[in-house]
Amino acid sequence: MSDLQTRFEAFDELSHRTPCERPSKLISTFKIEPTLWEHLKHAAALYVSKCLPGNKLILDEHELLANCVKHEQEIKNLTPNGMLVPKRHTILEYNALVQAYAAIIRSLKIDDLIVSWHVPLNLRIKFGEVNQANLKRHHPTEDIHSDSWAGESSESVTTQLPLFGDTERNFVDFYEPPSDFQDDWLKPLPSYAAGAAIAAKYKKLGGNYYRKGFIALADFATLHSSHREPGSEPRASIDTTFVLKKKLKPGEKEKIHQWRDGERADHKVLMGIGETHLFVFPDTVDQKVDSEGGFKHPTNLKIVEVLRHGN
Ligand SMILES: [Fe+2]
Repeated sequence: MSDLQTRFEAFDELSHRTPCERPSKLISTFKIEPTLWEHLKHAAALYVSKCLPGNKLILDEHELLANCVKHEQEIKNLTPNGMLVPKRHTILEYNALVQAYAAIIRSLKIDDLIVSWHVPLNLRIKFGEVNQANLKRHHPTEDIHSDSWAGESSESVTTQLPLFGDTERNFVDFYEPPSDFQDDWLKPLPSYAAGAAIAAKYKKLGGNYYRKGFIALADFATLHSSHREPGSEPRASIDTTFVLKKKLKPGEKEKIHQWRDGERADHKVLMGIGETHLFVFPDTVDQKVDSEGGFKHPTNLKIVEVLRHGN
C-alpha cells in the first residue's frame, strides 16, 4: 500500500465517528457543539485578558483583540510567531482553556485513536500585518510547512481552531499532497524554507476552511501556512497536534524527534486536565525560554498529577 493510501485509511476512520465536512481526503472540519464553543471562547478570553496589562476582564472578541494590538509591545509572553506563552501568573486560566479544548476533542469520539499530544497547545494572536522580523526565523508559520519539519512526529494530525477576529482575511491555507507523496518528505528540516521544493509539488486547497465555531483536523502529509489578505485585522486561534494510533504497526513505538522530547502528554492526561492533572508553568513572565530557533516549545511545562485515575 502506498504511503498516502495508508494515511487515507487512518484518516477515514478518524472522520467517520461524528459528522464532518471533508474538503480533502486528509482534512476534515467539525462543527463544535454550541455549549462547548461558548465554554472555549470564555476560557480563551479569560486567558488572553490575563496576558494583557491591567486587570480588565474582556469578553468581547473585538475589544479583546483591539487591546492586544494596542498593548502588543507590553505583552511579555508574546513570541514573534504570535504565541501567548503560558507563565506562572496564567496557570489557572491556561488549565481552564485546555479543559475546554479537551471537551471539544472528547465530543469527536476519537479517544481510542489518539496516542499522545504535543503540549502545551498554542494560543496565538496573528496580527493584521506580518511580523517581518519573524519571517527571517527558522519556522515562521507564514511559510508553507508540515509541523513535522519542526521536529514533530510525522504520524501526527494537526488541529486548527480559530477563536476570535478576522478569520475571513487572516486565516490558514491548506495544501494537498500529490499522488506520489512519500513519508520521507516529512523528515525534520533546518527551516520551513528548506522544504520549498517539496511544497512546490503540492496543490493549494481552494476555499477557506478556517471558520470560527469549527475545528479542522489535517494529516501531516498535508501542508499549511498562515495567510493574510490585504487589510486584514487580527485573529486569535488554538493549534496543536496529536499522534494517530492507527498509524503505528503492532510493537512499533511512536517516533519522536529528539527536539520534541518532553513536549508530549498521554491522551488520558490531556483529557484529565483540571481533574486528575494540571499543567504548571514555573517561569515568571520575565523568564524567557530559548526556543532554539523554533525547534523547541518556548515554554517550561511541568505536568502534575493531582489525583490518580479512578480515585
Ligand atoms: Fe503549523
